[in-house]
Amino acid sequence: MVTAYDFHTAKLLEMAGIPIILVGDSVGQVVLGYESTVHVTMEEMLHHTKAVARGTTRSLIVADMPFLSYQVGIEEAIKNAGRFLQEGMAQAVKLEGGKNVAPVIQSIVLSGIPVIGHIGFTPQSVYQLGGYRIQGKTQKSANELVADAIAVEKAGAFAIVLELVPDLLAKFISNQLSIPTIGIGAGIHCDGQVQVLHDMLGLIDDFTPKHAKQYSHLASNIRQAVEQYITEVQRKEFPTDKESFPLDENIFTRLTGKQKSSEEA
Ligand code: KIV
Repeated sequence: MVTAYDFHTAKLLEMAGIPIILVGDSVGQVVLGYESTVHVTMEEMLHHTKAVARGTTRSLIVADMPFLSYQVGIEEAIKNAGRFLQEGMAQAVKLEGGKNVAPVIQSIVLSGIPVIGHIGFTPQSVYQLGGYRIQGKTQKSANELVADAIAVEKAGAFAIVLELVPDLLAKFISNQLSIPTIGIGAGIHCDGQVQVLHDMLGLIDDFTPKHAKQYSHLASNIRQAVEQYITEVQRKEFPTDKESFPLDENIFTRLTGKQKSSEEA
């Protein structure tokens, strides 16, 4: 699973063979420039989900339910989850939390909407968790994470994201569940992995989280390309004839009263 937020990227991911595309609320940080995912709205998520869905035909599109779209009440949670399928053209939603959101997951699933759970570090609670921290490091919080995973599975989720969880705890949780675990910063023993595309592609060069691997270095490629463009425009090396459209000889003559010079021809 990889994140995408727009039409062309989604198309490329599907062509590369990615089975699940997550329209993550990480869009808030990596595309919209917010400090955290807390600021992302339903309308913003729907906007990006629609773009991704238009670019795909085979990949499973999962839309992240943003902060406060599922915490306020079950009725509102079902309605918002449904909007991602009805308007956003996603096939599933993801939401953060364990035991505390199990009744919400159950109601959404009972409404016919497939749900992926998300436990461990849950970015929408970043201010409560006191920062981007590994979860499950104490006995108490490890036990809580196991209980959360079981509650999410019992509520009917078809998969669960484990974020920033020690590798052997993620392995233990994966072995306890019959649904697949999808890890991000949770080690090799999860059933699948998820990455934020901008981290993988090296699009953000001033910060790479420890759990991310840069498979490309697009930030420096983009900078080099734009620097070259600036230089070529300043030196009048771009555009060339190849990127220009010739004016018909007769129109030129009628306009100017002259023949095209050899340079203009
Ligand atoms: O929003 C997101 O990109 C996510 C992933 C980190 C799993 O939730």
